[in-house]
Amino acid sequence: MSIIVAPSLLSASLFDLKNQITTIEKSAAEYLHVDIMDGHYVPNINFGDKFVKELRAQTDLVLDCHIMVENPEQVVLDVAQAGGDLLTFHPETTRHPYRLIEEIHKLGKKAGIAFDPALSIAAYQDLLPIVDQVLVMTVSPGFGGQKFIEKMTTKIAQVEQLRRDNHYHYDIEVDGGITDQTGRLCVAAGANVLVAGSYVFKNGITEPIEKLAQL
Ligand code: DX5
Ligand code: ZN
Repeated sequence: MSIIVAPSLLSASLFDLKNQITTIEKSAAEYLHVDIMDGHYVPNINFGDKFVKELRAQTDLVLDCHIMVENPEQVVLDVAQAGGDLLTFHPETTRHPYRLIEEIHKLGKKAGIAFDPALSIAAYQDLLPIVDQVLVMTVSPGFGGQKFIEKMTTKIAQVEQLRRDNHYHYDIEVDGGITDQTGRLCVAAGANVLVAGSYVFKNGITEPIEKLAQL
């Protein structure tokens, strides 16, 4: 399976965003990863549907929206309507994750669920047949530049095994502390979508994206 690279705009320079997106468009990256944070589910506040709407007007890259908010129902739908392509939320933040996935699909969008490092896959195994993407967090969500948690490769392998055994069709995304080295471990375990923030934006954008795409 070929690797999809998703540069995380959390590490981009907001006042140089247009240029950085142009550079990403010319690179091997297919997604833009947009982190939406509420200061409650995670201790940080970042981006929202207005930002996604403006981004949509600037680029045709797939907008991979990672929604880290409590009670995400309204935000997820607002971000979808603003032009997000893929809506990934944390299932423990809503009482009815199954319904929210159905709502996302009704809007003609792709739905993903994200697993915090402390959350077991077993808790939400019944969602796996209907999701388009499973995001295995390789750091605790909230900030860029954190250290990769190597133990999460076991969880990636578990999600891959479940996909193979049951003929599910989701992509397996990883997010947090991804570099060419940690990305390699994730790909070996079964991941095919690599989110990278600080690694990409601290190393000149094009070259790190190229390295990840070739893993
Ligand atoms: C963290 C965010 C990530 C973040 C990753 O909660 O979900 O997308 O941007 O940043 P790096 O790649 O620097 O760990
Ligand atoms: Zn993210």
